[in-house]
Amino acid sequence: MFREDFQLLDKNIIYLDNAATSLKPRTVIASIQDYYNNYSANAHRGDYDLSLQVDYKYEETRNLVKNFINAKKSKEIIFTSGTTDSLNKIIFGYFKDYLNDNDEVLLTKSEHASNVLPWFELASLKSLRINYIPLDNLELTLENVKKTITERTKVISIAHITNVVGDIRPIKEIIEYAHSKGILVIVDGAQSVAHLKVDVQDLDIDFLAFSAHKMLGPTGVGILYGKECLLNNIKPIIFGGGMNASFQFDGTRVYSELPHLLEAGTPNIAGIIGFGETIKYLNTIGMDKITEYEKQLKKYAVEKLKKVKDIVIYNENSESGIITFNIKDIFAQDLAIYLNKYNICVRAGNHCAKILKDDLGIKNTCRISLYFYNTKEEIDYLVKVLNNPNLKEEII
Ligand code: ALA
Repeated sequence: MFREDFQLLDKNIIYLDNAATSLKPRTVIASIQDYYNNYSANAHRGDYDLSLQVDYKYEETRNLVKNFINAKKSKEIIFTSGTTDSLNKIIFGYFKDYLNDNDEVLLTKSEHASNVLPWFELASLKSLRINYIPLDNLELTLENVKKTITERTKVISIAHITNVVGDIRPIKEIIEYAHSKGILVIVDGAQSVAHLKVDVQDLDIDFLAFSAHKMLGPTGVGILYGKECLLNNIKPIIFGGGMNASFQFDGTRVYSELPHLLEAGTPNIAGIIGFGETIKYLNTIGMDKITEYEKQLKKYAVEKLKKVKDIVIYNENSESGIITFNIKDIFAQDLAIYLNKYNICVRAGNHCAKILKDDLGIKNTCRISLYFYNTKEEIDYLVKVLNNPNLKEEII
């Protein structure tokens, strides 16, 4: 689908590393070039036409994002540099004050580093308890959430889709149950917002973090979504220009209102404008169509890969386009380097989910991650290369 929209696909490569970052459509790249060539002023700082044009485009993207995830208000959409930045701002800007000593935070062992390390850091500042909801066949179930919650649990912070197992978590049910116990839920949407319709009101998400670059947009742009009633109590963790209304020599200061309160410094204007174009592009295709296509392609890929000699697939039943595997007796990185010789791009390693190794039973894996521009022909080629009778010799 839509392969001609991606210049990089003109080259002879099979790009199967979309969970790391996605390719960018020509229209997105053109909009970034257009900004730099034709109106590259700062945002929210000038009174001249070029700057006003920037303000318009910048806020247009905010509005597009608001509609894309069905937020109630555009001030609930904060631009950040990516999911990691968004999660840090949520954890240190909101939960640092919200949580009391001995309160409990629930995570899972398949979370990405950016949803684990900020909690470790916060727990070293105050005495928090971090506990892990056990996984069932590597997946998170509502039942296990219910079993793990205690009266001290104040927040659950989980990925919607995990980046190694690729399971789509039942977040609507988890959030509903958590709310019935007065527990807030942070959703790491880095791997989900790009691939399925995420409606923050329908799911009743408290905080959501995601990145533009995994959904065809530029790097260096992320979104922090929070319900207005929660964001009213968030504090900035970055201070400077653009987030204050006034300050005096004696230290008195008045900060700006949301969303600018959390957007100190000159933002990634070109990236944010490009992200607006990205959302328009995704809207023209339709998220439901993308989800359905990827589901079929994943099914096709698993069926084909299962027949490869000595393959071990760790997540054949997970619903997203992520497939994590190894070939017996071959180190994952060596396999990735071998595939690279055939112009196939995959990721190998622990994929920043370093505490998953006990549940997974292995530290390093190869991962392919699909997007809607991937095809059955590409999967066939991957399988052919993996079926190479000389594979082990070529690696050694
Ligand atoms: N989080 C990204 C990945 O899973 C970088 O590859």
